[in-house]
Amino acid sequence: MATMKETAFLQCIRPSCGTTYDLSAQIYECQKCGNLLDVAYDWNRLNPPKSLSFFQQRWATRNNAIDHSGVWRFRELLPFAGPDEIVTIREGQTLLQAVDVPPLGLPLKTGRLHLQYEGMNPSGSFKDNGMTAGFTMARKLGCPRVGCASTGNTSASMALYAAKTHLADGRLMQAIVFIGAGKIAYGKLAQALDYGALTLQIAGDFDACMKRIREATDRLGLYLMNSVNPFRLEGQKTIMYRVLEGLGWEPPDWIFVPGGNLGNSSAFGKAYIELKQLGLVKRVPRICVVNATGANTLWDLYNNRGLRWNNGDWDKPAADKKYAEMDAKGQKAKTIASAIEIARPVNLSKELRTLDAMNGVVCEVTDEQILEEKALIGKYGYGCEPASAASLAGLRQMIEKGTLDRDARVVCILTGHPLKDPDATVRYHTGLEPTTSPPTHREPWGKHANRPIKVPDDLDAICRVIEEHRS
Ligand code: F0G
Repeated sequence: MATMKETAFLQCIRPSCGTTYDLSAQIYECQKCGNLLDVAYDWNRLNPPKSLSFFQQRWATRNNAIDHSGVWRFRELLPFAGPDEIVTIREGQTLLQAVDVPPLGLPLKTGRLHLQYEGMNPSGSFKDNGMTAGFTMARKLGCPRVGCASTGNTSASMALYAAKTHLADGRLMQAIVFIGAGKIAYGKLAQALDYGALTLQIAGDFDACMKRIREATDRLGLYLMNSVNPFRLEGQKTIMYRVLEGLGWEPPDWIFVPGGNLGNSSAFGKAYIELKQLGLVKRVPRICVVNATGANTLWDLYNNRGLRWNNGDWDKPAADKKYAEMDAKGQKAKTIASAIEIARPVNLSKELRTLDAMNGVVCEVTDEQILEEKALIGKYGYGCEPASAASLAGLRQMIEKGTLDRDARVVCILTGHPLKDPDATVRYHTGLEPTTSPPTHREPWGKHANRPIKVPDDLDAICRVIEEHRS
């Protein structure tokens, strides 16, 4: 249990329990009631800034790594570690891009759509925001081995940080990754292997890997780096701070974000709950969490079964019933957006809290819609991996349904870099299945398919084709 002198501690998210634990407890759920844990702060004894513009001064000192990091320059809002304890690779240099063309064919006013491009992170996804915080804690605790189950990006990010993090005795941390066999895009697998992670391909999907890593963590005392680790989510709060920074500290009207294990969107909710509590924002944006139809557990629980936060007393048996039904039918998650191919999201309860605090909605989009939006995002010079494009597909659906109007100021989170999953992109544009042996081919079906043209090695023929295709 936490003692009174600490200003940061772990706390059960259920207000009617609220049990606190010391930061060093290395637990991922409340020992009394089994709910998830937050990193919580005694703000009255800390000195949070009076206004968000306080953070602008950090640009002047950005040759200092923790002032440069897009996570730690907001450190007063995640004060669980001292400046000397921070593990950083200057992550979070990400941009909020204003979409200046008539916004990607959407009936939004020009200048109202923004894309938060998290693919610019060192490992190419938003996970680095959380990993820097997780590793800061792991090193503080002196943990030599870190582990995660992953659909790819968590493992890439964790492997990168492990390759960079030395313990006090000089030893390098070891990364242990569990991935589902055949369930991870090659760009991400390549990273885990290159960064030297011990990579275990488990005969099962992400949900199976998640179950096993938790068991292995308990047995071997690994430090768990999945988003069930509350320190990860502290780092991911900063995505929202950077969005605010990009908008001159004015909250947008809407945030659209893909939902898989529901860590990222949960972190956004915690960020806004705290900013409101600290009087740093007056208004909280609405959130739309976007599931793929083949991995739509949250969508079903929230929209069809009426599951709600209910001030922390959420109906866990209703979720268990859904999982038992899925097991009985042998139903597994299945989507082209492999990053969010998850049927049992570990942060479900935190997500319900976020949806409550941010007046949220949940929608589902098909693989076809995801791929069409991804192609459009690429065509206009942005680019992302399939899961990220779910955010834009969700936005289009919500506009069509009339949930938001053309004046709304919208931010879609592009969670991962386009080169994370080149197979999906090549398949979309060419119909080629590059990783089958021998490669197979079918006609591409996409509206924005941009096929390569076969031309003989002949200058006349080459020039003719170029002239025929003037844009
Ligand atoms: N987008 C991308 C590119 C992701 O990699 C993930 C999650 C999500 C969205 C969903 O975020 O889980 O916080 O709801 N990827 C995890 C992984 C699960 O293992 O890399 P979430």
